[in-house]
Amino acid sequence: MKVCKLSDVGGVDVDGVDLAHPRGPEEQSALRQLFDEQGLIVFRDQMLTKQQLVAVGDLFGGAMLKRAVIPTDPEAPGISTITNRGPTGDVMPERLDELIGKADWHMDLGYVTTPGRGKIIYAVQTPEVGGLTGFIDLSVAYSTLPEALRERIENLHVIQSWDKAQVGQSNGPRGAGTLILQEFPDVIYPMVLTHPVTGAKVLNCPPLWATGILEAPGEEGLALMHEVIAHITRPQSQYWHRYRPGDAILWDNCRFIHAASGTLGLYARTLWTLTLKAGPEFGRLADQQAA
Ligand SMILES: [Fe+2]
Repeated sequence: MKVCKLSDVGGVDVDGVDLAHPRGPEEQSALRQLFDEQGLIVFRDQMLTKQQLVAVGDLFGGAMLKRAVIPTDPEAPGISTITNRGPTGDVMPERLDELIGKADWHMDLGYVTTPGRGKIIYAVQTPEVGGLTGFIDLSVAYSTLPEALRERIENLHVIQSWDKAQVGQSNGPRGAGTLILQEFPDVIYPMVLTHPVTGAKVLNCPPLWATGILEAPGEEGLALMHEVIAHITRPQSQYWHRYRPGDAILWDNCRFIHAASGTLGLYARTLWTLTLKAGPEFGRLADQQAA
C-alpha cells in the first residue's frame, strides 16, 4: 500500500489497494486507521460491483440502510445511484447546456440530528468536463481561526435548515427538477463540534444548511455567520477532485464538508454512493431548545 499526499489541504491518494479484495485483517485495519487519521482517501483504478462496494462500506462501519431522502438499491442495500442518464436517472437534464447537481458546501445529512459518519463515492461514468467534488477540512478551519473570532463563536449554535437548500434554488442538492418534497424541521448544531474519534475540534457552519446563529438573531448574527463561512470556504482551503472512472473516494463526514460543481446536461455521469452509518448525535431539533 502506497500512501501519497492528495492535496495541499489534506487527504491522501492510496495506491496498491484492491478494494474488491482487501488483503486480510492487517490491510483492513491499516485502512481504517488511515481513514481516522486522514479523513479523506482517494483509491484509484478500482473495479467494484455494487455488492463489493457494500463490503467496502462494511470495512468502515457499515452502510446507512434507511436514508431520509435518497432511496437505496434493494439489490445492494445502502447503495444509491446518482446519474443523469438511464432508467434510474433521477437528475435528468432538460437541456444540454443545463448545469445540474451543483451544491454548496455541506455536511451530508446536516439537516437531521444524526448525520452519517462518512461517505463513499465510486465513479462509474465521469463527465469530460465538470462533475467535481470539493472538500474542506473543518478541523483545519477551526485551528486556523483568528483568536478573536474563535473566542466569539466557541459556544454558539448554528440553525440548520433543509428548507434553505430547497427554497428558491433550481439547483438544490439533488439538482434541477428533482426536488423532493419532504419536510424536515430545523435542527441546531454546535458551531464547534468534537470529532467522535479523534476528539479534534471541528468548525461547523455549512453554507448549504446554515440560516443563522441561535444565540445571535438578526443582522449581527447573520454577519457573524457569514464571517465564519468566509473563513471556512477560503479558496486556499479547498480541494476539488476531478474524477476518473474507477475512483473510489471515502471521506469523514464529521470532519470534511463537500460541495459539487455540477455537470452540464451534455455529459453523462454515474456515481454509486454509500453513506456510512450514523455517527454521533451532533444536533437537536430546533423546537427542543431547552434540551
Ligand atoms: Fe452531499
